[in-house]
Amino acid sequence: MTDKKYADFSWDFRTSNTKMFTHCYHAYPAMMIPQVAGRIIDKYGDKAELLFDPYCGTGTSLVEANLRNINSVGTDLNPLARLITTAKTFTPSIQELDLYLNCFNNHILFRLGMRDNDSIIPPNFKNIDFWFTKDVQQKLSIIKMFIDKIEEQSIKIFFEVAFSEVVRESSLTRNSEFKLFKMPVSQIAKFNPDVFAIMRTKLNRNKAGLTEYLKERINNPVTMVCDFNTVESVPFEFIENNSVDIVVTSPPYGDSRTTVAYGQFSRLANQWLGVDNAQSIDNELMGGKSNNSDFVFSSKILNETLDKISGKDPKRAKEVYSFYVDYNKSINNVSKVVKGGGYACYVVGNRRVKGTTLPTDEITIDMFCENGFDYIETIIRNIPNKRMPSKNSPSNVPGVLDTTMKNEYIVILKKIA
Ligand SMILES: C[S@@+](CC[C@H](N)C(=O)[O-])C[C@H]1O[C@@H](n2cnc3c(N)ncnc32)[C@H](O)[C@@H]1O
Repeated sequence: MTDKKYADFSWDFRTSNTKMFTHCYHAYPAMMIPQVAGRIIDKYGDKAELLFDPYCGTGTSLVEANLRNINSVGTDLNPLARLITTAKTFTPSIQELDLYLNCFNNHILFRLGMRDNDSIIPPNFKNIDFWFTKDVQQKLSIIKMFIDKIEEQSIKIFFEVAFSEVVRESSLTRNSEFKLFKMPVSQIAKFNPDVFAIMRTKLNRNKAGLTEYLKERINNPVTMVCDFNTVESVPFEFIENNSVDIVVTSPPYGDSRTTVAYGQFSRLANQWLGVDNAQSIDNELMGGKSNNSDFVFSSKILNETLDKISGKDPKRAKEVYSFYVDYNKSINNVSKVVKGGGYACYVVGNRRVKGTTLPTDEITIDMFCENGFDYIETIIRNIPNKRMPSKNSPSNVPGVLDTTMKNEYIVILKKIA
């Protein structure tokens, strides 16, 4: 380890509340903790005017930019992620929200008193009966009916984000898993979620977070949330070349199939919210498609690691190769928009495949340095509270598990002016 790469446990934030402000809104796999995003901005972006997060997920770094009066742009291919980020940053006033919360309670009371609720038609997506009991479908439809009538966008998305969590919690999927696995029959027999009560709990919790957030946020800087594949490009209509002061992001650890399946985690909510491609999102994400090009990386450590994996399992090596081809393209795109003297701050994990560790921190350094950046430092932190699968299957053999990462690496690079 060089002196530029060091462990600093003060970045663990082991006992910190990570759910303050609008950060409390919605669970999501592999979220960055707000304290990490905030401290990176304070350390490297104290004069920043524009922050970019190319894989914004639930918008942790955008919220932290917002609280520091910094404009921000986030991109993500998952519609649920964009919805959550938008809800956390595009906020209604509490007075206006209270009006709708009252109307919502009246709507539920009214519907509970009605006899013809059987005529309510749930959405018609594949497998709805597999994942939701008829009773739950009816109750979710009653909530959805209310949401669909809301015209004020910031209120509508406030309700949609709460609804999304209710969808997941009242479905027959095992809630402890990110991927969709149905509960065992014995559990289903006892499963009788109080859908309306869960919705009210989420709404109240989110309102409390919003209240704190509105008190803390001094101004209301511009926040853009875009549907964009950063492997292909960046949204140049919002971010010009050489305009970004700081990138704060946590990219995926690998392809969704063998690491974190963001699309699968979000599928039921996306389906209830009317997203058309809800079933194919994971294939669109980084590394989701097999790449048969003969591109050669300039990162020596990446090539050596791929050779090692290939010696054990050429097919797995190809999958890993495909992910890094996409990662490399994405870094090329991100590099262009950072201004000279600006920073790229990547929070990455080094996963293991076939017993070999993929040093994504070092690979990230190599790829940025090739694009005109200087390496500044790598801070190693423990992951005490990140919501990750505690085990994964790096060998892809069912039942053969390995523990996932316990550390993450905060890699800091500065664009040469
Ligand atoms: C580790 S998560 C980000 C979590 C985020 N920092 C947070 O705190 O919630 C990675 C995100 O990258 C997104 N993603 C994966 N491939 C992408 C691509 N090619 N373009 C844009 N977003 C992508 C996934 O949908 C996922 O939301």
